Amino acid sequence: MTTPATARETSSRSSVVERLSGMLEKDLAAVETLLNAKAASPVDIIPAMSEHIVSAGGKRLRPMITLAAAQAVGTANPSTHSLAAAVEFIHTATLLHDDVIDESDLRRGKPAAKSIWGNSASILVGDFLFARAFTLMVETGSLEILDILSNASSVIAEGEVRQLAAQGKPDLPTEDYLAIIEAKTAALFEAAARAGAISGGGSDHAAALASYGKNLGLAFQIVDDVLDYGGTTSVIGKVVGDDFREGKITLPVIIARRRGRAEDQAFWARALDLDQQEEGDLARAIHLIRTTGAAEATIAEAEAYVGLAKSALSTLPDTPWRTLLGELADFCIRRVS
Ligand code: IPE
Ligand code: IPE
Ligand code: MG
Ligand code: MG
Repeated sequence: MTTPATARETSSRSSVVERLSGMLEKDLAAVETLLNAKAASPVDIIPAMSEHIVSAGGKRLRPMITLAAAQAVGTANPSTHSLAAAVEFIHTATLLHDDVIDESDLRRGKPAAKSIWGNSASILVGDFLFARAFTLMVETGSLEILDILSNASSVIAEGEVRQLAAQGKPDLPTEDYLAIIEAKTAALFEAAARAGAISGGGSDHAAALASYGKNLGLAFQIVDDVLDYGGTTSVIGKVVGDDFREGKITLPVIIARRRGRAEDQAFWARALDLDQQEEGDLARAIHLIRTTGAAEATIAEAEAYVGLAKSALSTLPDTPWRTLLGELADFCIRRVS
């Protein structure tokens, strides 16, 4: 009997993340301890909100990449743990901010922090976690790592601002979309992998791992943008269609518009450029993205970046870590959440 596609995908998805989590068990436990300890504050709302989002889970992909990168070219050590925790805090801070900007009500399968505590508190606690990330970076004792992560932090903010300016732009070139996602998402994956290599003692491999991280990050966000139209809320832990409601121009939309018939062009223009959305519009957008082949073409684009990420690993020592990093890149294409 053949295994249904979804079951097969889910099981291979869990296996690479589970195997990596197993091999990194002690390191990830050290990172979790740091995340909990550094979220402490006498101001009640800060640990409450931090606990809410940190304990909601999240895949911990970025700290996993940092730790695996360190192991692939050397050894993860206490300084790597501080670095990995800093990376996850930067990610968490951007999520607190992002849900305010995107007016998103669900995150990691739970109400977004801003839906419970409000926008102002969410922004401020995001700032707190950003600042804590800097404390953790200082604890690594490496100015080079501080430089990498502080640079990535400003690039992420630039990406978010650039995206804001691109909202509702009918003719956003694909290159501009790619520049936005490279900044808002891939920069942190790149920094996580590059700094992980340096922290593990394998600076010679930092550039290769940075390229791995960047390409993986691009693929990851492209797939995320498809899931915003094709996933289900209960699985992705976020509300499907948030990008559409916000008028965000992502790759599946760019391709579907390019391939659309005249009446479809009018639909996209009304719904996204003029922000005049009606009941049933999201369903129509999902239908068009599917029937024009835009979803498939978008995944193919992500696959190309996964290929680049994997080929960047070729110069690394041949270890199980390298194999798992490669499998983690494949996971991005198959992931459902
Ligand atoms: C969400 O990232 C933000 C994007 C870059 C799309 P993740 O999907 O890694 O979020 P968590 O940490 O697993 O919740
Ligand atoms: C994720 O952006 C990138 C950052 C948080 C900087 P998105 O807005 O596309 O991600 P989701 O869909 O809310 O997770
Ligand atoms: Mg968002
Ligand atoms: Mg966003």
